[in-house]
Amino acid sequence: MTLSPNWQLIDREPARDSFRDDVLQGLSAITKTLPPKYFYDARGSELFELICDLPEYYPTRTELAMMRGHVAEMAAALGDGCALIEFGSGSGIKTEILIGAMRPVSYLPVDISRDALCTSAQRIALRHAPLQVTAVCADYMRLDELPLDAGARRVIYFPGSTIGNLTPEEALDFLARSRRIAGRGGAMLVGVDLKKDPVLLNAAYNDTQGVTAAFNLNLLARINRELEGNFDLARFRHIAVYYEKLSRIEMHLESLVAQEVTVAGRRFEFAAGERIHTENSCKYGIDEFAALARRAGFAHRAVWTDPQQYFAVHLLEV
Ligand SMILES: C[S@@+](CC[C@H](N)C(=O)[O-])C[C@H]1O[C@@H](n2cnc3c(N)ncnc32)[C@H](O)[C@@H]1O
Repeated sequence: MTLSPNWQLIDREPARDSFRDDVLQGLSAITKTLPPKYFYDARGSELFELICDLPEYYPTRTELAMMRGHVAEMAAALGDGCALIEFGSGSGIKTEILIGAMRPVSYLPVDISRDALCTSAQRIALRHAPLQVTAVCADYMRLDELPLDAGARRVIYFPGSTIGNLTPEEALDFLARSRRIAGRGGAMLVGVDLKKDPVLLNAAYNDTQGVTAAFNLNLLARINRELEGNFDLARFRHIAVYYEKLSRIEMHLESLVAQEVTVAGRRFEFAAGERIHTENSCKYGIDEFAALARRAGFAHRAVWTDPQQYFAVHLLEV
């Protein structure tokens, strides 16, 4: 990888031991679970990018169009010369639109997926030089210290409705921590998927090409690769269902037969039809999210939506 002088990597990628401990704990629970942050190894990040281009997956193209259409207003509200921090930066395509309009002095993307992070941080550093890019490979739920810019206004960007992967209680806690990171005079721009017709939601997570299924099943493949697992992927199937009462899509992996699986030397029994809960994707009404942000101590300054009211981008201020 070519290094440009204006980018660096701070590597705090969670150790393999944490992955093993979380997987063993999740598979030992009465209702088996696996944390969604482990979807994103190099293959998982590639599959996520394919999901973003699927015809059924409206969130990415909707948010991207909103960024293109409203970025001048967003940049005017945020001001020039900010220190931009991003959680779950992924490919950073929307971020580049924001960077082009806001012209921040520094950019600090945080992502757990090291390959995807390095690729996008390096591309952004090259295209937007002399912008200072400090990429932090870390779990944003377990951040201790970030190398924060003391002089400039801090703006946190959290697109992609990644906040929906947290439960509302976790999201509240995460927003409160983000407010502390943004500090006095800081701001946060959050992309949030709106509640909508369950038919559209169910289609978005059950694409006809099976890419979302491959993304979900890749978690088992990753466990096989990294934790000496022996999951037979053909004996599990992808499930994604919208639960209207909870306002969330739940993704699961369902065992097709009664079977036993070994991971890191431990054996786990699966009944036929038993599921591993792998992800939530919570949907919020505009007022509902604004209320959550206020409970976290933010002032809700503005919101942008698309004409179909599929997606919202909220501007919060400390
Ligand atoms: C839904 S994708 C969104 C990617 C991109 N921001 C977008 O809008 O298309 C979630 C991103 O967050 C990252 N991520 C998920 N959980 C994380 C965690 N706990 N800590 C750091 N990054 C995480 C993933 O690697 C992935 O890049």
